Amino acid sequence: RKSKTPEDVVKRYLQKVRNPPEEDCTICMEALSGPSGYKGPGVGGVSRAESVGRLAQCGHQYHLQCLVAMYNNGNKDGSLQCPTCKTIYGVKTGNQPPGKMEYHVIPHSLPGHPDCKTIRIIYNIPPGIQGPEHPNPGKPFTARGFPRHCYLPDSEKGRKVLRLLLVAWDRRLVFSVGTSSTTGESDTVIWNEVHHKTEFGSNLTGHGYPDPGYLDNVLEELKVQGITEEDGQQQ
Ligand code: APR
Ligand code: ZN
Repeated sequence: RKSKTPEDVVKRYLQKVRNPPEEDCTICMEALSGPSGYKGPGVGGVSRAESVGRLAQCGHQYHLQCLVAMYNNGNKDGSLQCPTCKTIYGVKTGNQPPGKMEYHVIPHSLPGHPDCKTIRIIYNIPPGIQGPEHPNPGKPFTARGFPRHCYLPDSEKGRKVLRLLLVAWDRRLVFSVGTSSTTGESDTVIWNEVHHKTEFGSNLTGHGYPDPGYLDNVLEELKVQGITEEDGQQQ
């Protein structure tokens, strides 16, 4: 069977727009009523430059060629994210390098969670060579500070966050390869957009407890990655 082209993937999430509105495409900044302003490679065979589509769920409209170009720029996992409102079509995955995620319960309480024990998550990712989904394919990447230890209260909500973090790990969304904003080092393993608490008894870095909003914040960050409660149930 022939695999789906980027155009096939993008079209799966689109409705055709016959009379484009008097608005600009926010990908290329050109009028939706005229041709796509995208001039790069990869869209030569794609439909007409004038084709416009509406994303089925959120309704945002773009040139078809602009969406295909955006898809080609990503990790081409069959999913698409609306650049305006971040609605995810399909299942979003990331470019986290290979490694291990483990967890266990430790018999101590976190500041702010006196009534329960603590879940400790241990992430381990070794250095390696970047793949085609990384910023510099073929170049080595470093991995600093591993194993990285993270903490959650062993409460109902904490266990829910754990279930969703396991989904995030499977979808390669917990870490990424890029430039560390803390150290400035490039081509290294960095946290992706889901915050973790890496301090246990203190809060010297701001990544510790107490933090009453943390569990809700991280659930919101997981949602931005397309991971919700339903995903946590299909383990
Ligand atoms: N603990 C948890 N999260 C952190 C930490 C930390 N000590 N430092 C930064 N972050 C968060 C940032 O708030 C940001 O959202 O990670 C995200 C990416 O920041 P980078 O500095 O680019 O990530 P990275 O280099 O992976 O992390 C820096 O985190 O766990 C430690 O050992 C790790 O010292 C390293 C630090
Ligand atoms: Zn949208």
